[in-house]
Amino acid sequence: MKKHCIYLCSLLAGALWLTAACSAPAELKPICSGEIWPDADGTHINAHGGGVLYHEGTYYWYGEHKSDSTSKALVGVMCYSSKNLTDWQNEGAVLPVVENDTTHDIAKGCVLERPKVIYNKQTRKFVMWFHLELRGKGYSAARAGVAVADQPTGPFRFLRSSRVNAGQLPADWSAEQRAALDTLNADHYKKWWTPEWHDAIDKGLLVKRDLEGGQMARDMQLFVDDNGKAYHIYSSEENLTLQIAELNDDYTAHTGRYVRVAPAGHNEAPALFKKDGVYWMITSGCTGWAPNEARMFSAPSIEGPWTQHPNPCRGPKQEITFGGQSTYVLPVAGKENAFIFMADIWRPEHPIDARYIWLPIEFEEGVPVINWRDSWTLDWFDK
Ligand code: GAL
Repeated sequence: MKKHCIYLCSLLAGALWLTAACSAPAELKPICSGEIWPDADGTHINAHGGGVLYHEGTYYWYGEHKSDSTSKALVGVMCYSSKNLTDWQNEGAVLPVVENDTTHDIAKGCVLERPKVIYNKQTRKFVMWFHLELRGKGYSAARAGVAVADQPTGPFRFLRSSRVNAGQLPADWSAEQRAALDTLNADHYKKWWTPEWHDAIDKGLLVKRDLEGGQMARDMQLFVDDNGKAYHIYSSEENLTLQIAELNDDYTAHTGRYVRVAPAGHNEAPALFKKDGVYWMITSGCTGWAPNEARMFSAPSIEGPWTQHPNPCRGPKQEITFGGQSTYVLPVAGKENAFIFMADIWRPEHPIDARYIWLPIEFEEGVPVINWRDSWTLDWFDK
């Protein structure tokens, strides 16, 4: 009898425990910046310089595939999918590099960086833009590439790559500013960083140089505004000046309209978001793979005027963006004012081992602040 009772009691306790365990909310996985981030197969996520698209209940994380020994593109653009931002399924190379034609724009061995994908509600296509450097040409091409797909997981069809907005001057330039270009003689400004050179860059010395062939386009971001208009934001003019260019209705080409931000400010890695009608942009300086101090700007309109703010990072290594470089600001779906700052901790000696920083953006009197956290969970946004 006693034996039976013990058996029955343990059965009952087991059942109670099971009920409690099943009705308890699923435990949220911590987000630990700088650590190895395994995908569903247990392999460290390989999607660097990335961005995230939320579409019909799923997040899609696109980024550069990096290999063991080189940062050149040997595979292409990777995609990972997730319902909860912590469990990621590898969807493979959604824009693979071209293996059998070394003259192709995206031939294996090219430099294909910072891919971003946006969804066009009118055409129902997924549009990817990326920074492209042609195989064997170092970083001299400075082109933007574009590809489209019917599904978020691809396959993406490569359309073309080129410099940007050939023959166009900035949309906000006055007649005087346009006329002043004629007075700029490149031979007078061979030495960089002098006050005269600064003034000439401000007036568009390099805009003029690249007018015919199109503006340089390196580190980049895409941003879709509330009215459906999309913008390409990129480091231009030898990485000295950011440009913000409007895309056409189907998002696959530029309209010719663009503005410049912080001439000679040396900004890279732009990451934009909009909160309460204000546009925010976090950028880095230009020190290659080595981290530097983040910068932050805000504007009442995407076309400016942009005002610079102090570095938003706080905590250990705040003066070098916690060892990382910005890549994207991810708005969390279904939550108001919930934004995740995404950055890359590069490992140029072993690129595949580069790590990710994801941190919640806090607001102090409306101004973004990013505190370092070793570990945090998404319910941080519910507090
Ligand atoms: C960084 C840039 C990266 C990559 C790297 C190459 O400044 O943000 O995307 O281009 O330089 O050195």
